[in-house]
Amino acid sequence: MIVGVPKESFDGEQRVALVPGNLAALQKLGVSVLLESGAGAAAGFPDALYADKGVSLAQSRAQVFAEADVVLRVRALAGNAASDVAALRQGQVLVGMLDALVEPAGIAAVAARGATAFALELVPRITRAQSMDVLSSMATVVGYKAVLIAADALPRMFPLLMTAGGTITPARVFVIGAGVAGLQAIATARRLGALVEAYDVRPAVKEQVESLGAKFVELPLETGDSQDKGGYARAMDEAFYRKQRETMARVVAGCDVVIATAAVPGKRAPVLITADMLAAMRPGSVIVDVAAEQGGNCEVTRAGERVVHGGVTVIGPVNTASAVPNPSSQMFGKNVSTFLALLVKAGALVVDLEDEIVRESLVTRGGEVVHTRVREALGLPQLVTA
Ligand code: NAI
Repeated sequence: MIVGVPKESFDGEQRVALVPGNLAALQKLGVSVLLESGAGAAAGFPDALYADKGVSLAQSRAQVFAEADVVLRVRALAGNAASDVAALRQGQVLVGMLDALVEPAGIAAVAARGATAFALELVPRITRAQSMDVLSSMATVVGYKAVLIAADALPRMFPLLMTAGGTITPARVFVIGAGVAGLQAIATARRLGALVEAYDVRPAVKEQVESLGAKFVELPLETGDSQDKGGYARAMDEAFYRKQRETMARVVAGCDVVIATAAVPGKRAPVLITADMLAAMRPGSVIVDVAAEQGGNCEVTRAGERVVHGGVTVIGPVNTASAVPNPSSQMFGKNVSTFLALLVKAGALVVDLEDEIVRESLVTRGGEVVHTRVREALGLPQLVTA
């Protein structure tokens, strides 16, 4: 069985779906790897490192698509992926982040080619799937990078300095949303010496926030049913968000940096910082809005841009994990290799629909979109199972 790894084609994408360190595990599965020459270069993995591990190098992208039984990608369908989709053939397997619920039309196009596709972002967040959880891996990198972006844009330093030249007070950082990205942002800001506070609608995270050395901000809000069975935040109503903005305004006004990571799966990010709230912040303060791609937690955020509003710099980074491509490729490679181990039995591909992880990530098969939520997103009727 041949696993093919083309170079990522999305504009500015620097990650690669497999790194040389993943090869030993894949060889144990009885698969061989065909890599498009240069695919790992931007992430710090030149061809020679792959060749040392027994990877064959393809001189053309077309060769990878023509020979691979399974094609591994980081972001297979983002941007203009029409030629890659056209290169897929019947029965070929595609595994990667597919933006299945956000851009379901891409999934319909893959189905039309007759390929079998697995969307890694749909892998359920259960304990057994932790080592396949690309969302957690990428959010970890994003949380780290968001703090560095903020530190770079801030005219102050993060740590307390007591020097012969006087005392420099530490920066105050407020992290909104303490999920995977938020917790990593807290840890990173703490390592840089900032005073860190955080808030999340899920009261369960208070302990995790405190264990990282940050203060959990208590807001007088009724958060009773803010967490669903899967551990995710639920969407709250507009009255809740209004009250949250009012009660959080004082905290926002008192800090130098806000790292905003609040998100609700499948929904637009809640607006938690209004333009009026920016006016109360000190000039030079910085907001890094990690939720920019989901619409943003700040009213003035523009995805992919840096806006200065009333002296406050508001940054809306996009595809942030790609900006730190080495660790994000390492983690992605580990996640995708572990996922492949679920599919490959004795060197052959077996799609076991009894397995919850396989079933919930499978989006196309036999020319059809087979995933319930993706079909809903496409406005297709549900398939009738015999
Ligand atoms: P996410 O990226 O969907 O959301 C980020 C954070 O924003 C969440 O902590 C959420 O509670 C928070 N949030 C939403 N609305 C907010 C508001 N109005 N104000 C403040 N904060 C708000 O979440 P992420 O990071 O992907 O995961 C969240 C949770 O999912 C984890 O803490 C855990 O419970 C569960 N999870 C389970 C995993 C597993 O078992 N394998 C792996 C990863 C996550």
